Amino acid sequence: MNDKKIIVALDNINLYDSRYLVDEIKNQVFAFKIGYDFFLNFGLDGYNQIKNKKVNIFLDLKLHDIPNTIKNGIEAIANLSPYFTTIHITGGDEMQKITGLSKKNVKVLGVSILTSIDSAQAEKYYSEKNITNLVGKFVKNALENKLDGVVCSPLEIELVKKISSGKLIIVTPGIRPENYNKNDDQKRFMSPKKAVNLGANYLVIGRPITQSTNPLLEIKSINSSIE
Ligand code: C5P
Repeated sequence: MNDKKIIVALDNINLYDSRYLVDEIKNQVFAFKIGYDFFLNFGLDGYNQIKNKKVNIFLDLKLHDIPNTIKNGIEAIANLSPYFTTIHITGGDEMQKITGLSKKNVKVLGVSILTSIDSAQAEKYYSEKNITNLVGKFVKNALENKLDGVVCSPLEIELVKKISSGKLIIVTPGIRPENYNKNDDQKRFMSPKKAVNLGANYLVIGRPITQSTNPLLEIKSINSSIE
């Protein structure tokens, strides 16, 4: 455990560069996020090469299946000892509860509504066009089903904090440092400082660090903005 708050997403970089980056910045971050692109490209061997560097791992596989399959999946994930992993809250009560029975030592975060879903899609698929209402409903269920935390957009931090009274860990992507001047696909982002002040426990940041010409300087600058 350490007191850092940044989780660096190892997206779109090869295994060699990932290993180099981890060595360079591991003392400045809470964890590294491994998604299924990394997992499928580099496999368990790639996963273990990062894990063996004695860092926390957020294994972001976003599971969504029937409870029995989830139980087996979470048990298999727990054997890899990541710090966090993810499931979709929309998988239902039983699916969420079963992660508590089978997870052993991994913290399970619930994904509520994907930030790529807009109000028209929310109405089409969930019969509710107010995304805030939907997120609120899912977060209440995550709390009742005893998930450890949720992944949410920076715009939902206050809502999650209010609903969970601090009982859910809040992990937030969609973060861009104040000095970041590249336009990319994150449209509704927030600065690290603002997200932490609103109550985010951990911030997931990818490209501003992985594509920086000086990742160590960048992460140090982000850390000093939130400490
Ligand atoms: O490079 P960037 O900082 O945008 O990376 C953010 C990370 O968080 C990526 O791994 C992305 O898939 C993930 N994420 C996100 N928005 C969500 C959920 C996850 O950006 N709603």
